[in-house]
Amino acid sequence: MNAEIPNLTAFDEASLERAFAALTDEARQAASTIENEAGVEQFRLEWLGRKQGRLNEVSGKWLKAAPVEAKKALGQRFNELKKTVEGLLESAAGAGPSDAALAAEAIDITLPGTQRLLGAEHPITKTLNEIVSVFASIGFSVGVGPEVETDFYNFESMNFPPGHPARDTQDTLVIANQERRTQRDRLLLRTHTSPVQMRTMELQPPPVRIVIPGKVHRNDAADATHSPIFHQVEGLCVDENITFSDLKGTLDYAMKAFFGSSVKTRFFPSFFPFTEPSADVQISCIFCGGKGCRKCKDSGWIELLGCGMVDPAVFAFAAEKQPAYDAKKISGFAFGMGVERIAMMKYGISEIGQFYSGDMRFLKQFV
Ligand code: PHE
Repeated sequence: MNAEIPNLTAFDEASLERAFAALTDEARQAASTIENEAGVEQFRLEWLGRKQGRLNEVSGKWLKAAPVEAKKALGQRFNELKKTVEGLLESAAGAGPSDAALAAEAIDITLPGTQRLLGAEHPITKTLNEIVSVFASIGFSVGVGPEVETDFYNFESMNFPPGHPARDTQDTLVIANQERRTQRDRLLLRTHTSPVQMRTMELQPPPVRIVIPGKVHRNDAADATHSPIFHQVEGLCVDENITFSDLKGTLDYAMKAFFGSSVKTRFFPSFFPFTEPSADVQISCIFCGGKGCRKCKDSGWIELLGCGMVDPAVFAFAAEKQPAYDAKKISGFAFGMGVERIAMMKYGISEIGQFYSGDMRFLKQFV
């Protein structure tokens, strides 16, 4: 900020000369430090501002105080000063940024560029897509259904009647305040992707060949291999003359396509309310080739998924909307697999929690 305009006490030529020369110097000095548009505007206000500008002050203090005989000389010098200041303003405004301002904005072209991280599929999404594409290559299409599901689709239509003990094998997270609804309409977080079997059949008559990737929820305590939220890929095939050997052939093909052609499969009797007969599928250990190691607990086999022939009771529910699901005319198989488990095996991951940690050091390995 410039100093206040001093009072002028002597009005002879030499004193006027000195006083105006000092002001002109000051104006030049101020103009030389202007760096940008804001500086130009500040200079204008400071010197030429109508109320608080310095020239206004000069005319107030000096012109008015001058004795009559000095007024003419003072007026001339004042006009000169004003012209000089206006000239300074004009050239500052037209000059563009100062060297200093340019230097501050200069780009150092020797600096490395800003790195943009490449996005990549999360390992679970990647595994889901890989599983789906194996089945897509043999004629399966993809279906989806809601994660918030009714008791009817999640359990009852899948042949888990109310109170059936098999419901206890899938600890369920239920939505609060559903008491006013009938049991079949109560909402819950789906415990498996199987309800989408029913939703698909209700919408289309056979033949059906579909895989259903999706998120499921169970009220399980988290540990190294369990998470209350995980993913499954469901499969459903319904047509005339579908047999258990179609199921075996399809899953054997899919496991070989996914894990490598040397992998063997074997089927063990199991139980699911919605398939009859039901089976658990094991594959020969991909770590030791079946010889026995720590990963397969020396058995040579690893359990991977559940499957079976669609239970006629399930077709009966579907037939309420689509009569073509007549268990006397058609048959089908279904399977369901846990995606985390498969991804953990494929990538050698020992903690399921890594998938959900959002830790870049983990995720970067799958780019
Ligand atoms: N829904 C079953 C589960 O989550 C898996 C399964 C699907 C079994 C289809 C058989 C047929 O455990």
